[in-house]
Amino acid sequence: MASDNQRPPRDQAPRDQAPRDQHWDPERYARNARFVSDLGRPVLDLLAPAAGERILDLGCGDGPLTLEIMRSGAEVLGLDASPEQVAAARAEGVDALVGDAMALDFDQAFDAVFSNAALHWMTRPAAVIDGVWRALRPGGRFAGEMGGQGNVGRIHAALISALDRRGIDGRAVDPWYFPSPEAYHAKLEERGFEVREIALHPRPTELPGAMEGWLQTFAEPFIKALPSADRAAFLAEVSAALRPELFAQGRWTADYVRLRFLAIRPPTPPGSADDTKGTLVSGGARS
Ligand SMILES: C[S@@+](CC[C@H](N)C(=O)[O-])C[C@H]1O[C@@H](n2cnc3c(N)ncnc32)[C@H](O)[C@@H]1O
Repeated sequence: MASDNQRPPRDQAPRDQAPRDQHWDPERYARNARFVSDLGRPVLDLLAPAAGERILDLGCGDGPLTLEIMRSGAEVLGLDASPEQVAAARAEGVDALVGDAMALDFDQAFDAVFSNAALHWMTRPAAVIDGVWRALRPGGRFAGEMGGQGNVGRIHAALISALDRRGIDGRAVDPWYFPSPEAYHAKLEERGFEVREIALHPRPTELPGAMEGWLQTFAEPFIKALPSADRAAFLAEVSAALRPELFAQGRWTADYVRLRFLAIRPPTPPGSADDTKGTLVSGGARS
C-alpha cells in the first residue's frame, strides 16, 4: 500500500471536461477548508491591490480573500461556478456572480485578475488564460496561486490506486490540473503575458480534522466514480493507506505544493488601436 502512495504523480495533460461531480458546500468547505483562504497571504501580497483598482477574483468561493482585497479600497468582482459559494460570498457583502472561468467574456474591464486555489480545477487552462487576457486592460496583472506539479501527491496517488484496485481508471475521473512552473509559464507566454514570477512552493498543511473530511470536501469526482454503497469502504481504505505518511501526533497533514505566479499583459504603445480602457461587460461569463 505504501509503495502505491509513493508512485510519482504523472505529468498531467489537461482534460476537456470540467469536474462536474465536484460540489462545493459552503458549510462543509468552512469546516474542512478554511485554511485555503487563511493561507492566501502570499498571493495577496503578490497581487498588491490598490485603492480604486478594478479586480476580478476567479473562483472566489465563499469570498474571504475577495473581502480582503476589498479592504484595500479596490472595487472587486468575484466569479465562481458554484451558485452555493456565490450565495455565501454575497451574504458576506461580496459582489459576485455565477460563471465559468473557462468562458470569460469581459473586455479590458479589470486592472488585475486574482485567483487562489481555483485554477487547478479548470481543466482548459488555455481558455482561462485567454479569457483573463481579454478581461485585463493592457498593463494589467494576473496574480494567482494554484495546485502545482506534485500537489497532494500522496493523496492523489492513493485515490487513483484505490480506484484502480476496483477496476476503475482513476486517471479518467481525475479532476485536477497541477502544472509545472515551466508548463504554466509556457501557456502564459503563448498568450502574450510577461511572466514576472512563477515558482512551486511546497506547503505541507495541517488539516483541521480527519483525512476523510478532506477527501469528502475536495475529492468528490474520485468518490462518485463508485456506487454509494462502496464509498465508505473506499474512504477508509484511502485514509488507512495515507496514515503512515500523513498522520503524526494526532494530526493529519496534506502534502500541498502551490504554484504561485505574477504575469502582466504588456501595455500597448501609446496611440495604438488597442490603447483604450474597456468597460465591464454585463453577464461577463458564459456558464
Ligand atoms: C478550493 S475553492 C477556493 C475558493 C477561494 N478562492 C478561496 O481561496 O477560499 C475552489 C473554487 O473554485 C471554483 N471553481 C472551480 N472551477 C471553476 C470554474 N470553471 N469557473 C469558476 N469557478 C470555478 C469552485 O466552485 C470553488 O468555489
